Amino acid sequence: MQYRRLGRSGLQVSELSLGSWVTYHNQVNVTAAREMLAAAMDAGMNFFDNAEGYASGKSEEVMGKAFKALKWPRLNYIVSTKFYWGLATEGAGINRKNTLNRKYLSQAIDGSLARMGLDFIDLVYCHRPDPHTPIEETVWAMSDMITQGKALYWGTSEWSAGEIRAAWDIAERHHLHKPVVEQPQYHLFHRRRVEQEYARLYEDVGLGLTTWSPLASGLLTGKYRKGVPKDSRGARKDMGFLVKALTDTARNTAVDQLVVVAADLGCTPAQLAIAWAARNPRVSSVITGASKVSQLKDNLGALEVIPKLTPEVLARLDEICQPVVA
Ligand SMILES: NC(=O)c1ccc[n+]([C@@H]2O[C@H](COP(=O)([O-])OP(=O)(O)OC[C@H]3O[C@@H](n4cnc5c(N)ncnc54)[C@H](OP(=O)(O)O)[C@@H]3O)[C@@H](O)[C@H]2O)c1
Repeated sequence: MQYRRLGRSGLQVSELSLGSWVTYHNQVNVTAAREMLAAAMDAGMNFFDNAEGYASGKSEEVMGKAFKALKWPRLNYIVSTKFYWGLATEGAGINRKNTLNRKYLSQAIDGSLARMGLDFIDLVYCHRPDPHTPIEETVWAMSDMITQGKALYWGTSEWSAGEIRAAWDIAERHHLHKPVVEQPQYHLFHRRRVEQEYARLYEDVGLGLTTWSPLASGLLTGKYRKGVPKDSRGARKDMGFLVKALTDTARNTAVDQLVVVAADLGCTPAQLAIAWAARNPRVSSVITGASKVSQLKDNLGALEVIPKLTPEVLARLDEICQPVVA
């Protein structure tokens, strides 16, 4: 495992990391989370991603209990959470849902700290942009979270390049803590934002990236080519919104060809897809997901595939994915 700086910050994150969306609480209980986190740490992962909204706060509770059981020195791991959606269990309070206003943010961090049982969170993200709150208000609230010692770094997720630059400029002007990272979707079928829209930000503001869904929710493993397997994310009732993309004919035809490339390289399609995301030097960490420890172990094999991605292999992948890329 190699470690990369989170953008221009001094924080070093493992090139592959592990997130808890869909899985923790729903598919992975505290015992399984503990086993999975231990396997991840043994392999060199040091960054674990979470969000207030995952399983409506329960994902943070599961991860927090697993950390407590593991008794790792706090310096050895980096944990994140994200704010914006609010918690379904607390109702649709007007200042508690789909917002980045100061009131919500200043209380949301306390809820996450309590659920995780931690004194501070390393990395906090604004989970989506909020067009109804001035960016300046959000920047002050995020910076204050750091000044208060409740978080160490902050960033954004799925913000436009213009919004990220506006936030950075405000922080620069007022000598506030600046956003250091963005968390965008990035995989073989979804790459324009990372490769084109954000292109100037890497040098101009030192933006780091922790990217999500390297397997497009499992599509890039090849397991959706004959329909939705039982026991997969696509079969979950609450994930119905993913089924159209997971079973898309053009995308699965491209996956057929990716399976051939993977076989030529002696790896699985999942390893190929994760290695492809990690080969981009702008990416600080590829956040992987797994519902079982066996998947995590399989996915860690991507580390050996990164050096095999020669310009010729990358050109082959571009050609295969070009018709379905976003
Ligand atoms: N910022 C954001 O808005 C945002 C959005 C989404 C995700 N994220 C973060 O990114 C992390 C990763 O996203 P993701 O979970 O969507 O990643 P992903 O890699 O695209 O999908 C992971 C899922 O694919 C299946 N899978 C993984 N490895 C497999 C293997 N080797 N063989 C077969 N199936 C396999 C598992 O689902 P099943 O076994 O259930 O099929 C697993 O939960 C999340 O946990 C979260 O921390 C952030």
